[in-house]
Amino acid sequence: MRKKIIAGNWKMNYAVNKADEFVNEIKDRINTNEVDVVLCPNFVSLERISDLIDDSNIKLGAQNVYFEDKGAYTGETSVDMLTSVNVKYCIVGHSERRKYFNETDEMVNKKALKLLEKDVSPIICVGETLEERDAGKHFDIVKEQVEKALQNIDKEKVKSKIVIAYEPIWAIGTGVTATSSQANEMCKYIRDIIAKLYTQNIADLVRIQYGGSVKPSNAKEILEQSDIDGALVGGASLTNDFVAIVNY
Ligand code: PGA
Repeated sequence: MRKKIIAGNWKMNYAVNKADEFVNEIKDRINTNEVDVVLCPNFVSLERISDLIDDSNIKLGAQNVYFEDKGAYTGETSVDMLTSVNVKYCIVGHSERRKYFNETDEMVNKKALKLLEKDVSPIICVGETLEERDAGKHFDIVKEQVEKALQNIDKEKVKSKIVIAYEPIWAIGTGVTATSSQANEMCKYIRDIIAKLYTQNIADLVRIQYGGSVKPSNAKEILEQSDIDGALVGGASLTNDFVAIVNY
């Protein structure tokens, strides 16, 4: 049985004080063992949030990382910097990073490999645009993203650390959610790809989240699908709605 993982991606929201206040407000109500709960605040809030959730089951996630160990990379953040504040998960390849910061599949793969060296779980985001779906290319697009992201990642790491988030771009921040069957169909397809790359047993252990306009009103239906093992929540993770989603 795969344990569900519900992550809140705050994106570029909440400066330190507000982040602090919000975590104090919701902390006790998202502190559960039923599902893995991950908060992904902005870099500047990581340390503070790390302290605030230290005595809870809530885990800390980052929204991005760089794939070099250290050096002259102005503005970037290394995996060691993340682990120094107890980061356990890191989102990679979010569609906003692919779109606005030209992140490629190759970079996603390098970031995932570097995170795994230090035992941080990558949450690898994949997903198609509306045009790609309308053209019937969504399966091919996602297949390529998954295969490239997982290159050279060994089976032990895949089985114990990798999380995939299927996020159709047309559903992110739009209020339009994929139907639960569309979401489950793609998550199942991703599992089949992992089974082909590794084995079915390994694929059965990998957690695959759905992301894109997840809210309290649709969380339960989405999370009860056979191949959906959690949610990556954007907008709704900034409010009390996140409490409702975690306690779906
Ligand atoms: P959303 O964002 O929940 O606001 O649609 C999801 C995401 O980008 O991870």
